[in-house]
Amino acid sequence: MTGKPSGGRGARFAGAMDPAAATLNASVHFDHRLLRDDVRGSQAHARMLAAAGLIAAADADAIVSGLERVAVEFESGARVLDPALEDVHMNVESRLIELIGEAGRRLHTARSRNDQVATDLKLYARRGALEIVAAIDLARVALCRQARAHAATLLPGYTHLQRAQVVTLGHHLLAYAEMLGRDRGRFVDAERRAAESPLGSGALAGTGLPIDRAHTAATLGFLRGPTHNSLDAVSDRDFAAEIAFASALLAVHLSRLGEELVLWSTTEFGFVRLGEGYCSGSSLMPQKRNPDIAELLRGKSGRAIGDLVALLTISKGLTLAYNKDLQESQEPLYDAIETAQRSLAVLPGLVAALEFDVARMRAAADDPALGATDLAEELVRRGMPFRGAHEVIGKLVRRAEEKQVTLRDLSAEDLRAIDVALSPDVMQALDPSRAVAARGVPGGPSPAMVLLEVARLEAELAALGLAP
Ligand code: ARG
Repeated sequence: MTGKPSGGRGARFAGAMDPAAATLNASVHFDHRLLRDDVRGSQAHARMLAAAGLIAAADADAIVSGLERVAVEFESGARVLDPALEDVHMNVESRLIELIGEAGRRLHTARSRNDQVATDLKLYARRGALEIVAAIDLARVALCRQARAHAATLLPGYTHLQRAQVVTLGHHLLAYAEMLGRDRGRFVDAERRAAESPLGSGALAGTGLPIDRAHTAATLGFLRGPTHNSLDAVSDRDFAAEIAFASALLAVHLSRLGEELVLWSTTEFGFVRLGEGYCSGSSLMPQKRNPDIAELLRGKSGRAIGDLVALLTISKGLTLAYNKDLQESQEPLYDAIETAQRSLAVLPGLVAALEFDVARMRAAADDPALGATDLAEELVRRGMPFRGAHEVIGKLVRRAEEKQVTLRDLSAEDLRAIDVALSPDVMQALDPSRAVAARGVPGGPSPAMVLLEVARLEAELAALGLAP
């Protein structure tokens, strides 16, 4: 590192920063992501300064067009961000001054990098959240299509990873659509709450100059107007933590889907075959077809949770107002958003390419033990108290186990010996299709209910402009 000025040191310092300190201090290697938002924020600020009579209109024009040039230079790679200038904000401003001279030196009027970086980060975070919302919706479309196609496909439902009761595949897939629907709500909510503009909060204490904060808030699309407390505004990273939480929980949901796909695609389960585009081979074992993408959906949750923990830990115990620790909140925020985006980007294709082995699922669902609860309910339908029915069917299961046969293979005598209510026609309740069809309560797995829920989701997605 040379003797260049590091981030805003100005005339106060005689010499340069210690090289190792400057390296630790620099953030260009990650805050380059803020380039566009920084330029937008500065353009809005310059326009406002002119409208408020703090700078000449001609200066504002020069700043706005100069900033555009700066953005293009850095974006095209014609210039690279200089770490000696610490961060993207200082790089943009210093290049602007190089390009347009004196007018550029007026841009930082009534502004600090503290309110500037908070503004940039919120712009970035809000856009990221909305992109994630759109990606979630595409994933929901894919799930919705598969759910419609498999509204009546039977498979065992599990608790404790033990076969429990027969359900439909459509119902199973819609469980993930529900999770994603809640995730969507969290991103929408976080985005809305972040729509307050910190710009004009200064370093921590506002400014004595007559700026118009509502002006910049409106220009930048901060629908809720300016923030209400300058100390809070420059030190608030709640929006980052909220998005990181939403991303972490989304990642947890995707990890559950990933795990089920890994499990279901094993030879042992054989419920699904993943699309070739989502599998990889082994460099050693020629027969392998590994579910790498599903595994990564599972594994990414670790880092998403890490991002959230990092963000919370960085903010914890900080005095008001800005502290440099807050610079550390940038990377976890970027990572949380980018990880969510990368994971979501594979979902529509991954889900659409799933080939379910309907026969194999159906065979697994045919296990008569799965109908024990449905049998008990049939006895309840015929007037028996549920506790009694539970006991009768419990005995029935034990008897079948002793005889090493399935519930379906017990003789009429076996049934009668256990309880007179157990007539052979009761045993029809064991039929998996019948059993599932009967479970048509709202939110239940019956094919009719699945189709109803699919229609509800389709209507919601159609209202969002998507065609499921
Ligand atoms: N790069 C810094 C950050 O991300 C900008 C704010 C610097 N402010 C300061 N007072 N040093 O936090």
